[in-house]
Amino acid sequence: MRERTVSEAVIHRLPKYYRHLQELQERGVERISSGELSAEMGFNASQIRQDFNCFGGFGQQGYGYRVNSLLHELSQILGLTHVYNIVIVGAGNIGKALARYAAFPQEGYEVKGIFDIREEVIGREINGITVQNVADLPEFLQQNQIDIGVICTPKDNAQKTADVLTQGGVRALWNFAPIDVEAEKACIENVHLSDSLYVLSYRLTNS
Ligand code: NAI
Repeated sequence: MRERTVSEAVIHRLPKYYRHLQELQERGVERISSGELSAEMGFNASQIRQDFNCFGGFGQQGYGYRVNSLLHELSQILGLTHVYNIVIVGAGNIGKALARYAAFPQEGYEVKGIFDIREEVIGREINGITVQNVADLPEFLQQNQIDIGVICTPKDNAQKTADVLTQGGVRALWNFAPIDVEAEKACIENVHLSDSLYVLSYRLTNS
């Protein structure tokens, strides 16, 4: 792993660059300047150059960026060249929707297990995977190397779930419960869908 200090803001812009470059590649665009990227993405050109400079540049003065090689670099920086094993805890609405998300395998995320606490859900199949009893999660984590734990439980059980996952060696948590879970030994992305909804209602209210 490359050692570097990169701000959270830059890290959160990288997926946007990646998606945009994928689109450019699909459109057959071979090279693009930071000015053109700026006009298309709404970030200013110097910010784009600074962001890429965090990772050593990639562009050439007067030429811009080669879309293919920038995409390749970004996929390496984002760690998209690996396959990540995932478990989903909580097989309700969100857990099921994520388990059925068809693009995960293509993008290198493999759902290895789904766990729930309710008898009526345990044993059901979701997208070819049988829901297991969450009581068996610690043993499952001992036997399988899991990279990412997805927390889709109600909020009262989310921290406990995070603890079980990290004690089992999971180093990344993707938390959908509406509390910010904490873990010393894991990186965490708390996903609060309602936050972007509140931004929309703010805009509707204040426009
Ligand atoms: P749901 O009620 O459909 O599913 C929750 C599932 O978790 C149930 O199947 C339940 O049996 C299971 N569960 C409860 N405790 C458990 C435990 N300790 N271990 C394993 N499984 C357990 O809920 P839904 O709609 O899927 O939402 C899941 C979570 O996501 C909730 O915390 C909800 O508040 C949150 N949510 C988050 C949103 C967001 O913006 N991130 C939007 C909507 C919901």
